[in-house]
Amino acid sequence: MRNLHNLIVIVIITIIPKSLTIKSEFPDGFLFGASTASYQIEGAWNEDGKGENIWDKMVHSRPELVKDSANGDVACDSYHKYKEDVALAKDLNLNFYRFSISWTRIAPTGEMHKLNPKGIDYYNRLIDELLANNIEPMVTMYHWDLPQYLQDLGGWVNPIMVDYFTEYAKVLFSNFGDKVKWWITLNEPKETCRAYSNHSYAPYLNLNNTGYYMAGHIQLLAHSKVYHLYNELFRDKQKGKISISISGAFYMPKNESSVDDMEIADRANNFEIGWFSHPIYKGDYSPIMRKFVDRKSKEEGRPWSTLPTFTDEEIKLLIGTADFYALNHYSSRLVTSGSELDPSFNSDAEYSTFVDESWPVSIAPWLIVVPEGLHKLLVWIKNQYNNPPVIITENGYADDGRINDLERIDYIKSYLNSTLKAIYQNKCNVIGYTCWSLIDNFEWMDGYRYHFGMVHVDFNDPLRQRVPKASYQFYKNVVTNGKLDVQY
Ligand SMILES: *[C@@H]1O[C@H](CO)[C@@H](O)[C@H](O)[C@H]1NC(C)=O
Ligand SMILES: *[C@@H]1O[C@H](CO)[C@@H](O)[C@H](O)[C@H]1NC(C)=O
Ligand SMILES: *[C@@H]1O[C@H](CO)[C@@H](O)[C@H](O)[C@H]1NC(C)=O
Ligand SMILES: *[C@@H]1O[C@H](CO)[C@@H](O)[C@H](O)[C@H]1NC(C)=O
Repeated sequence: MRNLHNLIVIVIITIIPKSLTIKSEFPDGFLFGASTASYQIEGAWNEDGKGENIWDKMVHSRPELVKDSANGDVACDSYHKYKEDVALAKDLNLNFYRFSISWTRIAPTGEMHKLNPKGIDYYNRLIDELLANNIEPMVTMYHWDLPQYLQDLGGWVNPIMVDYFTEYAKVLFSNFGDKVKWWITLNEPKETCRAYSNHSYAPYLNLNNTGYYMAGHIQLLAHSKVYHLYNELFRDKQKGKISISISGAFYMPKNESSVDDMEIADRANNFEIGWFSHPIYKGDYSPIMRKFVDRKSKEEGRPWSTLPTFTDEEIKLLIGTADFYALNHYSSRLVTSGSELDPSFNSDAEYSTFVDESWPVSIAPWLIVVPEGLHKLLVWIKNQYNNPPVIITENGYADDGRINDLERIDYIKSYLNSTLKAIYQNKCNVIGYTCWSLIDNFEWMDGYRYHFGMVHVDFNDPLRQRVPKASYQFYKNVVTNGKLDVQY
């Protein structure tokens, strides 16, 4: 019955009328923002009492792992130049600025009995500067820079992390919660899982699917515990909103008239966006994910499934732990059945991915431009999770850093257009959009090769001079006028 229901939903999605005219104005109160993350912009990696995190450790001990042996030791130097960043956000007329807090600035080892007042001070100054300029802070508690000491204890595959993360969140609510009304607990938990499973990012482990699903399970429990902590101790007074930024491509059937491909696409979406959404909106892993991972584990002769199980109590605590849906989205793929020989084959979910040759590819091979994927994903989220309010907390384009970044403008324009279609044609409750990124920054394993900023940063200049690009002016006009078809 469930499968049938899913298929009907997919059929409806694929017959969205293409010719409906849509308004180019965003709804009243629509929020525009831009996003960054601590390790990618701050630099000052060992200043003012900051401790070592897993990125500091990896880039210093294994520099060859990152392109050009680049690192975030200085990055955009935003630790010192945060006022320039805020001025750039102000001039864009942004409603909010999404940034993340570096855990080891707050507590050098990650344990909360030894706080670093200078680190807490830094974020108070940044938040105050934003508020003085009428920009709402949207704060990500964890954007991948785990304290190395907690990693040495096992990191996100050790259940003790649930308590460490909750204690950390308590310190953040206590110190900043009077001024911060938008919180993201974890950024892209799925990508953190890849860091444990197959050498994707720091801590650069290779724990395969066991580590992959375990890191996801523990992050979900940590997220739900922080949500309940807020309800119990802070919400009445602080009146903020909390979510978790869930990332994912959207998967579409390779052959739109194949019932098999439609079912495979739905399964792929349940393994991607659904992995973290289903527990939060419906209380447990999706039945299709449960079934496929359990079966695979059994075939492999394992005594238990690599996908851990929630207790009934945990399921109850997970449901409803997002005040809005926070979506990070960049690209989409086509899927069909495939074989294990295909490198893009997901052996647990049993699908292979493809791209349409006509889709433009950015400088980052994974970032393929498919604006209709965002439209369909927003409709999928509406149908699966009962039309929650959605804030797109990341969306953006990679290029070589040119100032006249017309491709970035085309990308943002087409994805905003898809957002408008979801709002007006499908009544999707999208309430905000965040461009990744405000400024060029350290792009993880790709170092400084790929640029995502609306502002150029000269990484060869000790002053890290910032120069707005063409996309900055374009986005400023969109934000200022609240509509898309604007001159730039
Ligand atoms: C890790 O797995 C993901 C799929 O989950 C894949 O996209 C990525 O290329 C893999 N990375 C490595 C280094 O194998
Ligand atoms: C993880 O996967 C790799 C590649 O398939 C394999 O070589 C390695 O033995 C696996 N490790 C474990 C612990 O299963
Ligand atoms: C797509 O699927 C339909 C229905 O199964 C089938 O008739 C058609 O041949 C398929 N097209 C391609 C290109 O495989
Ligand atoms: C949005 O896309 C439609 C085609 O689907 C196009 O007609 C329209 O001009 C686009 N609007 C903007 C502002 O890009």
